[in-house]
Amino acid sequence: MNKKTIEDIDVKGKKVLVRCDFNVPLDIETKTKITDDRRIVGALPTIKYLMEHGAKVILCSHIGKTKDKQTLAPVAKRLAELLNCPVPFAGDVIGPDAKAKANALKDGEVMLIENVRLHTEEEKNDPEFAKELASLAEIYVNDAFGTAHRAHASTEGVTKYLPAVCGYLIQKEIGIMGKALENPDRPFMAILGGSKVSSKIGVIENLMEKVDTLLIGGGMTYTFVKAMGGNIGDSICEEDKIDLAKSLLEKAKNKGIKLVLPVDTVVAKEFKADSEWKVVPTNEIPDGWQGVDIGPETVKMYSDLIKSHKTIIWNGPMGVFEFEAFAKGTNAVAKAMAESDAVTIIGGGDSAAAVEQAGLAEKMTHVSTGGGASLEFMEGIVLPGIAALNDK
Ligand code: 3PG
Repeated sequence: MNKKTIEDIDVKGKKVLVRCDFNVPLDIETKTKITDDRRIVGALPTIKYLMEHGAKVILCSHIGKTKDKQTLAPVAKRLAELLNCPVPFAGDVIGPDAKAKANALKDGEVMLIENVRLHTEEEKNDPEFAKELASLAEIYVNDAFGTAHRAHASTEGVTKYLPAVCGYLIQKEIGIMGKALENPDRPFMAILGGSKVSSKIGVIENLMEKVDTLLIGGGMTYTFVKAMGGNIGDSICEEDKIDLAKSLLEKAKNKGIKLVLPVDTVVAKEFKADSEWKVVPTNEIPDGWQGVDIGPETVKMYSDLIKSHKTIIWNGPMGVFEFEAFAKGTNAVAKAMAESDAVTIIGGGDSAAAVEQAGLAEKMTHVSTGGGASLEFMEGIVLPGIAALNDK
């Protein structure tokens, strides 16, 4: 990457504003307990480097959507535990509390300001708000890979007012995923799941230029199966994407790419955890039944294919993995990836959650902290939060 990093600048004694992605899931009941702290842990190397090099570290992030008005207070508490030091929390973003606490920081100390999305100006990338945010510090560091696809005030606007460099997490994410996309150890395979072809078109098209094998799973399977003339019963299908699915199948054939669809499918009578279910051939799903997971034959076939590839990128679950009965395919893919010697990359979002849930995250080469950001990166789209940083 040709962007300046925290190691390219002198941070000693300087106030450094660090944009992290602390958009972590909270428990539904109290909204105070963090249920997955991977994004906080992912930001620690940058935070520690800055503290050890004498910076006055001002952390910022969004959490939830603007309408949620969620506080970042639980993150300050978790950060203090992980860093084993006090992390003062300012109850505002650009208000008197943030300013006073920032001015009171000593070299090597760290603080967190409140959710930047408490200001509607954040998502609008409002220049005045960005300028005010920038005025808290002398240097800006972006380490929020998960939010790098958003051109917001704290990810893009602020770079117009401060020297702007990237942190270790962004370097790591771009380094590992960039190498896989540009110069992979071959054979190179992508596994794409999730419910909609429409949300993965860009990724499929970009990856078709790069991979040797493309495995399809999840709800989007049935749009492809219908495009091939199969019976999909009551399975989810994007009727307006059938022609697109046909052209993607054709393109794969012309390029000599193995595009593999499930051969068997777990079908359920109803979309619920304890529904009656059975296994049928993917192209013979009876009316009144819907596909909810890949079947056992497909699990075996996909696991064998995983073992014969040297680089594997996975994005999107193989079925309705939120229901235990229909998580077998997703878990089996996670297990086969964990057991393989290949470079294994989990492209964030639901697949990262599934791998985490299966306790296999440590066994992967890389589990991305980005959901939408990793998808856009895999689509080959320039991420504005990174593009805006200073070149080397
Ligand atoms: C994410 O969770 O994908 C990022 O934190 C971005 O959040 P957003 O989709 O609400 O912008």
